[in-house]
Amino acid sequence: MPTTATMAARTDAPRMDDPNWWRQASVYQIYPRSFADSNGDGIGDLKGITAKVPYLKTLGIDAVWLSPFYPSALADGGYDVDDYRNVDPRLGTLEDFDGMAQALHDAGLKLIVDIVPNHSSDRHEWFQEALAAPKGSPARDRYVFRDGLGDNGELPPSDWVSVFGGPAWERVTEPDGAPGQWYMHIFAKEQPDLNWDNREVREDFLTTLRFWSDRGVDGFRIDVAHALTKNLEETLPSTADLEAQGEALYLEGRHPYWDRDEVHGIYAEWRKVFNEYTPPRTAVAEAWVHADRRARYASPEGLGQAFNFDLLQADFDAGQFRKTITKNLAEAEASGASSTWVFSNHDVVRHATRYGLPASEDSAGGIMAGQAGKQWLVAGGRQEDVDAELGLRRARAASLLMFALPGSAYLYQGEELGLQEVGCEIADADRQDPAFFRNKGVEIGRDGCRVPLPWTSVGSSFGFGPGGSHLPQPEWFGGSSVEAQEAEEDSTLSLYRRALALRSELQTAEALEWLETGRDDVVAFRRPNGWTSVTNFGAEPFKLPAGEVLVSSSPLEAGLLPGAATAWLQ
Ligand code: NOJ
Repeated sequence: MPTTATMAARTDAPRMDDPNWWRQASVYQIYPRSFADSNGDGIGDLKGITAKVPYLKTLGIDAVWLSPFYPSALADGGYDVDDYRNVDPRLGTLEDFDGMAQALHDAGLKLIVDIVPNHSSDRHEWFQEALAAPKGSPARDRYVFRDGLGDNGELPPSDWVSVFGGPAWERVTEPDGAPGQWYMHIFAKEQPDLNWDNREVREDFLTTLRFWSDRGVDGFRIDVAHALTKNLEETLPSTADLEAQGEALYLEGRHPYWDRDEVHGIYAEWRKVFNEYTPPRTAVAEAWVHADRRARYASPEGLGQAFNFDLLQADFDAGQFRKTITKNLAEAEASGASSTWVFSNHDVVRHATRYGLPASEDSAGGIMAGQAGKQWLVAGGRQEDVDAELGLRRARAASLLMFALPGSAYLYQGEELGLQEVGCEIADADRQDPAFFRNKGVEIGRDGCRVPLPWTSVGSSFGFGPGGSHLPQPEWFGGSSVEAQEAEEDSTLSLYRRALALRSELQTAEALEWLETGRDDVVAFRRPNGWTSVTNFGAEPFKLPAGEVLVSSSPLEAGLLPGAATAWLQ
């Protein structure tokens, strides 16, 4: 149990009006369509979230991050936005949004929403206007339109490939019916890239940020924050030209659309808007950039915080963890931000599954997670290739380690249940992810981590809602449900609740001191006030240092910390 000294530290815990509330927050990501369905249409909604506020409160988090809930054709799970200042009617109304925000705030929880500025949906009124307008018109200038190559413009302006596979350009039919210009889309063709050199685009996003801030939103998660500004000179370099330039292209910010320096001018403007509010609105960048350039996104004059996906891409390995943590803490200190930690989100194979896969030789990864998970998706996501027990054991150890780190911990819905990824059990006909369709036959995509949550052990869609579930849930989901775990002292849900409660009691200054363990496969560190976390990445049991054990991810064996386990002591 916490000592009197640590209880005293609790009075320093962030308050709702504390401008630094985000620095060491535990943030829970909700993928709204798959969280809780209040009206039985098989799609999670805002009222469903409101009804689960008591659950979120008991979990012990500080904030909720909501993935897109805006009107959308769902060509990319809601990251194709039709209207940035409204709610998808299938998810509710603006009034429902206000009710949800109020319920979260009444429970002392902050609310972060996703902003998708790189691209709109092709159904957005601006894009529809652009299609109806002629070449060179102001309407087209809000997007990235170019003439094609070849005698009749029949070839795309470059050979660039979209993140989801296939060409990054789509040809339009002009209003007179003739084949016309091409527009750029780094992601799906239903996601045309916006032109951030256009002042109207910039102003409109400032309006959007104020719109949600005025409704009480506390912060923003910025989707592909590193892609907005582009340099599309007359002659576009080919993919081979770009590849030939190696790492220098990225390090020097010379890539035509990834991580260009000009993007920070946009965020400087956004920061001024954030600072109009009390406490200032926060932001976290999703920026898959070279580690040496990440701090720019996290600067206090910019977004203030940036995700680092380094732990997510690491294997379950003491050396990789220690190196990654050291580097990221130093980086955060240099930028003035606090560090971020994440193991799972809606784009990657859940960590309870990833850690049950054979380690990969190359953990470089990309948008689809570390290589092990990626390879598994490419191989078809066979459940028999996963050692689920080992994966869960390691996931619990890794999460407990993360909760002891200084900085913000970002959790993804369902990881508190130790949920496994759903692999090949989703039939092709039920899949939704554009990465599956655009990469047909290459990989199965990200639907497996987006299957609606199991709340009850049996019953209609395992308590997700009174109707079905928009992605099929496998039979084994019931065993991982909230209901099945609620009363179990050793369940992953109980572990998360205990650990998150202790985390908010124990954490004070953002400091960490590494401890010598005498073993390469055991990592230990101490936080101020004597809170110590020890993780045994190996197989050989480890004798813990003296102290009271506060919580452990697996039971101690004869007083020793077993393999693939973490314990906290004080
Ligand atoms: C990153 C988001 O996390 C992902 O889900 C989405 O597909 C792309 N950005 C495009 O918006």
